[in-house]
Formats: sequence, structure tokens, C-alpha cells
Amino acid sequence: VATLHKEKRDLLGNVVGGTEETTTGVIRLRAMAADGALSYPIIAINEAQTKHFFDNRYGTGQSTLDGITRATNILWAGKHVVVAGYGWCGKGFAMRAKGLGAQTIVTEIDPVRALEATMDGHRVMSMDQAAEIGDIFVTLTGDIHVLDRHHFEAMKEGAIIANSGHFNVEINIAALEEMSESRRRVRENVEEFRMMDGRKLHLLGEGRLINLAAAEGHPASVMDMSFANQALSTEFLARQDQPLPVDVYDVPEEIDSEVARLKLASMGIEIDTLTDEQKKYLASWEEGT
Ligand SMILES: NC(=O)c1ccc[n+]([C@@H]2O[C@H](COP(=O)([O-])OP(=O)(O)OC[C@H]3O[C@@H](n4cnc5c(N)ncnc54)[C@H](O)[C@@H]3O)[C@@H](O)[C@H]2O)c1
Repeated sequence: VATLHKEKRDLLGNVVGGTEETTTGVIRLRAMAADGALSYPIIAINEAQTKHFFDNRYGTGQSTLDGITRATNILWAGKHVVVAGYGWCGKGFAMRAKGLGAQTIVTEIDPVRALEATMDGHRVMSMDQAAEIGDIFVTLTGDIHVLDRHHFEAMKEGAIIANSGHFNVEINIAALEEMSESRRRVRENVEEFRMMDGRKLHLLGEGRLINLAAAEGHPASVMDMSFANQALSTEFLARQDQPLPVDVYDVPEEIDSEVARLKLASMGIEIDTLTDEQKKYLASWEEGT
């Protein structure tokens, strides 16, 4: 999208529409649309329920754990795991870490999500507080410098730091480098930073998405739903008589539920359908209270 809009503008005339897979990409494209900088309609695949409920939550949840385990071979049970961001990815990862016996701590900036994390059974606190407690820190926010200089100053000896959110900006790596007197690679994907005060902090996968850096990303059996949304949304764009007005659109509901239906069928799972009596009952306001 960036290349088309910046370097290859001569090709824009032929573009009927596009699709965008991920949370951060959708945020950027909405900002472009609001600024009038977007040149063709986009369907926001991430907004499909059959995308973020599954790929972000169960995919990122599992593959982040997989990446950190492969990089470090740590035992999760009993560790204080700090999860920055309780969005779809953070929820999935926190749930899986808890399932392996970790003591999970969630940090958030959104009060509703912080409350949800609390009631899901995680401890919620500010990163300033969590920095002193955590054994493992994982950022899944899409935000910049969620782990910053003053957090590194407070961290325990041997703390492990990883990112599975957006790009390598969530951890302020430049600050970590400045604060260190030396650094060395102790395992593939594990870099030890020796602080001036002698503490050692471990950065995984250069702060890039750890599920991709150290593992294999999400299993195909969750990406299939994301890519089915991509394919069917592309067909939807191509089949319009007139190109849609330039904007960022949600995946049409019919496509979303068709993907869920196909996925269930592929898993051999049958579900019930409403009877006529039930349809009538659910649509009425006269029966029951
Ligand atoms: N690793 C992967 O394979 C993978 C897969 C899908 C999405 N992603 C990326 O992961 C990131 C999160 O995606 P999501 O779908 O969970 O998004 P989301 O919008 O559902 O959740 C992000 C959460 O982070 C919180 N947050 C923002 N700034 C924060 C801060 N400074 N401290 C604490 N919390 C903060 C927000 O309030 C929100 O609840 C995005 O950048 C997305 O592109 C990565």
C-alpha cells in the first residue's frame, strides 16, 4: 500500500481495492482515509470476527509462547509474566501463559480492558509497578516504547523481554543499548545486555515479533480463516459493478459467517438452526418479558 501511494502512483488508476490483514495496518489505513490520503477502498480483514477472535487470540497466544519457549527453553510454571496490552493478542497470550502455570500480570491503558483482565483472573497494575516484579515481559500493544528506560532501570536481574505486537518499536531498544556496558548473544535469539549496575537483561529476537523470529508464526489451521477472509473480500471488491467509494470497510457480515461455517464444516462440527417457532419467538415482543 505504501509503495503504491508513494512510489508507484501511476499504477493507482488500475487498483479496484485492497485488503489489510492486521490491527496496526488497519489503524494506519483509517488514518490515511481520514486525511484523504487513501486512493482506493480497503477491506479491513482484521475487523472480521473470524480473523481477530482466532488468529490474534489463539494464533498469537500460542505462537508467542512457542517463540519464547524455543528461544529460551524456560519453565513457565511459577514465573511472573507481564503482558503489556490486553487486546486480542494480549488476551490469547495471557490465557495460554496462565494455563502453563505462570502468574500473569497485565498492563493496560484502557480501563475496560484492564477491568476485563482483572475479572479474567490476571493481576493488573501499571508497568512501573510490574517492572519490578516480572520475570518475563511481552509487549502486544501496537504502541511505541511500552517498555522504556525507567522500566529497564527497575527490572530484576535476568529479566526476559520480548515483543509480539507491532514491529520492533514497542521496546525502546536504543535506551537499552545506551544503558548497557556490554552485550552478547547467549543463545540464538537471546541477547544479554549487561547494565552499568551489573544486572543482566535478556532481549529476545531483537525486539521483533518473537513468534516469527523464533518460531513459525501461527499454525496454518488458524491462518486459513484470515486468508479465506482475504480471498473472499478480494472477490467481493472485484465483483462490484462500480468500485466502492474510497474508504476503509469492514468485511461483509456474510463473508465473516461463511468463513465460520466453512471452518466448522472442515472440523466436522454441526450446529443447530433456528426452528420457525424459535425465529418467531426471538423476533416477537409480545411473548415473555
Ligand atoms: N505477532 C503476531 O503474529 C501478530 C498477530 C496479530 C496482530 N499483531 C499485532 O499485535 C498488536 C496488537 O494487536 P491486537 O489485535 O491485540 O490489538 P488490540 O487493539 O485489540 O489491542 C491492543 C491493546 O494494547 C493496549 N495498549 C495500547 N498502548 C498501550 C500501552 N502503552 N500499555 C499497555 N497497553 C496498551 C490497547 O489499549 C489495547 O487494548 C498490533 O500491533 C497487531 O498488528 C501481531
